[in-house]
Amino acid sequence: MTLSQAQVVNRSLSSLKNIYRSEDLPVTAMDKGIIPYPHNTGEKPSKGMSFDLSSVTFLYPGTQKTSPSLNAVSLKIQAGQLVVIVGANGSGKSTLIRILSRLYDPSSGTVHIDGRPSAEYIVSDLHEATALLSQDSQLYPLSLRENIGLGYHAKVGDGSLVEQAAEQGGATEFISKLKDGMDTILEPMIKPFEMNLYNKKSHFLYKEMEALRKKIDISGGERQKVVAARSFMRFQSGKIKFVAVDEPSSALDAEAEHKLFENLIKVRDGKTLVFVTHRFGHLTKYADQIICMKDGAICESGSHDELMIKQGEYAKLYEIQASAFAQ
Ligand SMILES: Nc1ncnc2c1ncn2[C@@H]1O[C@H](COP(=O)(O)OP(=O)(O)OP(=O)(O)O)[C@@H](O)[C@H]1O
Ligand SMILES: [Mg+2]
Repeated sequence: MTLSQAQVVNRSLSSLKNIYRSEDLPVTAMDKGIIPYPHNTGEKPSKGMSFDLSSVTFLYPGTQKTSPSLNAVSLKIQAGQLVVIVGANGSGKSTLIRILSRLYDPSSGTVHIDGRPSAEYIVSDLHEATALLSQDSQLYPLSLRENIGLGYHAKVGDGSLVEQAAEQGGATEFISKLKDGMDTILEPMIKPFEMNLYNKKSHFLYKEMEALRKKIDISGGERQKVVAARSFMRFQSGKIKFVAVDEPSSALDAEAEHKLFENLIKVRDGKTLVFVTHRFGHLTKYADQIICMKDGAICESGSHDELMIKQGEYAKLYEIQASAFAQ
């Protein structure tokens, strides 16, 4: 094998590794727990994951910053609640989501999940029960069908489940406009072909390669719809007890975001839902609890009406948003 062939193989392998690492986020949570999650199987079905945080402080390891990203955060989220977290950029919303999803353990303070210290659970069980929709999610060099189906590996071949998930994620319309529809491959790996077929136009595979080479690109919003569809596919496993939505919709237009959130709310049964979004206007009517963050701390929490009466930080954010809509 020549050096350049070796490099191609190497690159293909690392793409493959990325697929297997699809859910691999920078987890720093300690993995010493031995209790399976959910723990109470056999009893009546759970309404969702519940949380109790007490004086949680978190400092990113190796950061230049002197103040912690979360500072003495205490909060309770009941099973099945719908919570909206709001606050300015850098106020600690995503960090809080990572603590709730057990990607990080707090530097100090305690987190209880369903009444037990979160560290007692097997971390991978907690992750299996959590669906995190964020901006970081990627697409893989596979067909759109597989990109969505991977949300629930065991059912990747179930066409109607994948179609349903595509619909819920809002991806059906744009996919139907693609020549190959669900079978469209976004970033085909043609390098290994290319090398062996170089200038062999008469080879029967040459045409195949040329077809693959016509790489198609989809917009940022369309990518987010595919990623959202993958999450809906994950819900089909029936294991999801906590859905954390951290601005997965920044590239979506207002109508698409609204639809996505409505679709998530439709399937909220048996799940606790936490939303982080700057466009929270249409969520407030569903919110059991609104948490308003400032400089790593919770500055206010309560229902929309309570916080509006207070005329504090939340009311300020809400009014800015409302006036933007009015214009
Ligand atoms: N990986 C990281 N390493 C070091 N510091 C970080 C890291 N991620 C975030 N921070 C810092 O922690 C603080 C809180 O960040 P966080 O991402 O939680 O804010 P946010 O409320 O989600 O903001 P945004 O609205 O911009 O998404 C910020 O000051 C940020 O600079
Ligand atoms: Mg954030």
